[in-house]
Order: sequence, then C-alpha cells, then structure tokens
Amino acid sequence: MTQVIREVPEMVRWSTETLGQNRSLGFIPTMGALHAGHRSLIEKARRENDRVAVSLFVNPTQYDDPTDLEAYPRTFEADMEMMQNAGVDILLFPEYRDLYPDDYRYRVTESPVSEELEGAHRNGHFDGVLTVVLKLLCIVRPTRAYFGEKDWQQYVLVRDMAAAFFLQTEIVPCPVIRESDGLAMSSRNVHLTVEERRLAPEFHRILSCGESPQILRRRLGERGFEVEYVERRDDRILGAVRVGKVRLIDNVSD
Ligand code: PAF
Repeated sequence: MTQVIREVPEMVRWSTETLGQNRSLGFIPTMGALHAGHRSLIEKARRENDRVAVSLFVNPTQYDDPTDLEAYPRTFEADMEMMQNAGVDILLFPEYRDLYPDDYRYRVTESPVSEELEGAHRNGHFDGVLTVVLKLLCIVRPTRAYFGEKDWQQYVLVRDMAAAFFLQTEIVPCPVIRESDGLAMSSRNVHLTVEERRLAPEFHRILSCGESPQILRRRLGERGFEVEYVERRDDRILGAVRVGKVRLIDNVSD
C-alpha cells in the first residue's frame, strides 16, 4: 500500500524513522505522468533498497514557458495505481508553498554545464531542477536516488551537485527505456499526433547511425525535424528536436 505524505515535516519524520531502523531508502523524484521509464527506476530502487519513496511535484521553477508548465500531463489516479503495483512505500506529494517557503529566493546555480544544450534552450531550467532536487534530497535523505539517462545532462548535473555539496545520497543512473520502435519513453509523447508519432522514432534511428554531429543535424533536418542541437559530450551524442509542438530529447553512446 502506497502511503501519501503531503507535509514536509511528516516526510522528514518518516525518513528519520526508516533510516534510524538501519533500512536503506531508494528515492525517485518525478513530476508524475508516470510511464514504463519511471517504472523501471522504481523497480530498480525496489531491488536495491528496503524502502522506496517517490515524489510527485510538477516543479514550476524549471519552466521558462508557462504554457509548457500548463501542458504537462496530470494523471494522478493512473500514477497511484502504477506506484501501488510497483510496491512504492511512500509518495511525497507536496504543494509549492511547502517546498518553496522562501518563494525561490534561494536557488542552486551551476556554470558552465547548465548553460549549454538544454540550458541554452530553456532559460533557468537547470537552476529550477537543481534547486528542487536539492530540496527533495534534503527532505528525504535517501540512500540512493535514481535518475533516467534520457535526461543525460540533468543526471550529470545532479550527480556533480551531490558531490559538490557532500550529499550522502548515491546518485544512480538508469538506462533509457524505449518503445519497441526506439522512441525514448517520455511524458510528452502523449502530445504527438498520429503522424508525428510515426516520424518520432526516426530521431533515435538517425542519432544512432554513428555519423558526426554536423551530419546528424543535417539528416534530422532533411527528415523533417526542427533541430535544436546535436552535440557530442561524455562519449555520447545528445540531441533535441521539435516535431510540431512537441520537443523530444534523446542521447546514445558514441
Ligand atoms: O526529470 C524530472 O522529472 C524532473 O526534472 C525532476 C528531476 C523530477 C525535478 O523536477
């Protein structure tokens, strides 16, 4: 049975008690609209820890466009069902005022990694991500926290923040989970029209073909994607494209 906790002090009490009993705690921060990618993080956390907590909070500070924030799918009932089935012990489901009593006066900024790639196209995005993740890690104090490699840059920034602030949580990367046609699972995929959904797997197929970023950019453009970036980092090729109104990101090892 998944227990829902809305208040920060109650979550702090639960974690203190769990860790005090020498139990390990796995944690998956989410914005909801859970899919098979999230499920794989939860299952990994379940295998590796005595207790599993998930947070569900659509974090406004990581959006520079209010329309995007509004469009983020809210599917609480289905999310709850998945968490129950996957054996999540606790869902932390806070309100903005609980997580941001300071109204975002205090924030984490990083330079230069957060300014490129995703950061160059989404103003202030990683300040919002790092700030909310730091808050959540301070509240939950998990033994391990799980992050999908689909958001590679986010994973790297969180991993390095945890090291920079001596957080006692291990940041665990988890491989990208894909549809059978190769499209990386994402909460945004529900916004693709039938035609866009047919084109979308071409993004991963082209990224994986072993060419230079310059050639990949050209090939994606020719195939009908609006290319935001394709770059090589950390022995990976990272890319972001738009298909109609939907923005897709993905990465493959080089
Ligand atoms: O990857 C996400 O869903 C979000 O960026 C996260 C880590 C939950 C922070 O809001």
